[in-house]
Amino acid sequence: MWKELGRFGMGPPSGGDGQQPGGRGQRPGPRRTNPLLWIVVIGAILIYTQYDGSLFGNFEQSHVSRMAVPAEEITGTFSLIDHTGAPRTDSDFHGTHTLIYFGFTWCPDVCPSAMLVMAQVVEDLAAQGNTVQPLFITVDPTRDTVEKLADYVTNLAPGLVGLTGSEEAVGQALTAFGIYRRSHADGPTDRDYLVDHASLFYLMGPDGTFIRQYEPQLGPTQIALEIERKLRG
Ligand code: NI
Repeated sequence: MWKELGRFGMGPPSGGDGQQPGGRGQRPGPRRTNPLLWIVVIGAILIYTQYDGSLFGNFEQSHVSRMAVPAEEITGTFSLIDHTGAPRTDSDFHGTHTLIYFGFTWCPDVCPSAMLVMAQVVEDLAAQGNTVQPLFITVDPTRDTVEKLADYVTNLAPGLVGLTGSEEAVGQALTAFGIYRRSHADGPTDRDYLVDHASLFYLMGPDGTFIRQYEPQLGPTQIALEIERKLRG
């Protein structure tokens, strides 16, 4: 093939240093690093720091992808208020699988992209005949009122249920799921603060038991695929 290409001035992929096409073994010419390799390496570092934050201290703890407790300690119980103002508990959602994300509506970057991933996952699963109920539980009940949540969830995904409640009720829910949270609120009057939190999807079974967690950065296709495998058993 390279003989053919050579006619058009295109050599073999060995660096174009005058080797005969199809000649003997590769001569060890001056070693030049393939620029493509650098693009891959730099890309990998950027992706890694984007999600892990190792190079950017400020970002480091804002969205962690670890559970605060071992899986067997996750009870998954909650008693909250949904985005229509109705009281809801975990047992209201028994009978179907749920996919739960914990975040806050003011989150500038990670939460919104995670919610888009969740919407896509639920849509992909529905297209294959798998019903999974998406839930969003706020880690910031002070600012995430019923009205704020209503605005947020209706724009994100059809069927998505937003859940908030008193600080105590939300605190209990986060404990029940082993979700890390740390508010940077500078006193009770501060309205412009960030909240560090675990960024994970939890797949819960129809009986309300924890099945497993997924990191949003896996992407919708991979997560939907893995959930579909789980649902098939
Ligand atoms: Ni967030």
